Amino acid sequence: MGRRDLEPHEIARLEDDRVVFLDQRLLPDEEAELECRSSADVAEAIRTLAVRGAPLIGVAAAYGYALAAARGEDPVRAAETLVAARPTAVNLAWAVEEMERGDQSPEALAEQARAIHADEVERCRQMAEHAADLLSPGARALTHCNAGGLATGGYGSALGALKTAFARGILDYVFVDETRPLLQGSRLTAWELERAGIPHGVIADSAAAALMARGEVTHVLTGADRIAANGDTANKIGTYALAVLASHHGLPFYVVAPTSTIDLATPSGAGIPIEERDAGEVTERFAARNPAFDVTPAELITAVVTERGVHRAPFEESLHEAVRKPARGEAERVA
Ligand code: MRU
Repeated sequence: MGRRDLEPHEIARLEDDRVVFLDQRLLPDEEAELECRSSADVAEAIRTLAVRGAPLIGVAAAYGYALAAARGEDPVRAAETLVAARPTAVNLAWAVEEMERGDQSPEALAEQARAIHADEVERCRQMAEHAADLLSPGARALTHCNAGGLATGGYGSALGALKTAFARGILDYVFVDETRPLLQGSRLTAWELERAGIPHGVIADSAAAALMARGEVTHVLTGADRIAANGDTANKIGTYALAVLASHHGLPFYVVAPTSTIDLATPSGAGIPIEERDAGEVTERFAARNPAFDVTPAELITAVVTERGVHRAPFEESLHEAVRKPARGEAERVA
């Protein structure tokens, strides 16, 4: 089909008296915007997945915090409400902390929030270059959930890497896990791949093992919601199963995520809070459980790719190095 990539402002933007999001709950059938008039509205949009994906909910929270300042809301309360919207993605708390740190005038906060958004998109473009270097000609990659521009505010992390690999002519095909229960894969990733003109096929999550066994998959790439200091990585439920399958079939498993997703204050995956969502998202008919994320142990991850480069085990060292700010005059690429 081949339509252009979404512009960052079409995914999320701050206006004088509102924050506007592309409402991801309605995709792919309807492209409609959602207007939020307070920080509580923004928190509700995050909670209900109108806006979702780890980097984008950080951007959304930054816009919500700036909107709170423009409206004269209590900033402490606004920050608490925004951070409480979802527990697993560390980008949410990270972005609010960034906003709390600087000049608290409404003008400065609006500028800061827009800079956070622009930075996240730029990080995606850089990490995509590093990750695409890991793919070889004829790649047939499998991805899970949506780690595209819709999840990052523009371009995408794991999906950004696949876009770059396709532009380089080394990616042949993308297997898209449908991603039960909310179908971020079949609704959002497939929509983005269709717009980008990249050959793809949606698969039932349970089909991944058989396709790997038949030699149809060459690489697995996912995003992340929080990466602990030891490399254990939280991402959409089902990611851990894919990492086990990739290990069993001898396939590389790459996590592509910005340094804003690395949480050195959490030593291992055991400390990552896992969001438990409404059971009705799984079934309205029976009792159900709905953990929205799982943790992939670091030993199943071939490499973490950030805007700073490719980071391999031992992750305690390589991730610490990745988040360390480069000293003046030091090369930006540290890994
Ligand atoms: O519940 P969601 O849709 O917000 O979950 C999103 C994911 O799990 C993504 O894979 C993750 O945020 C990485 S996106 C760059």
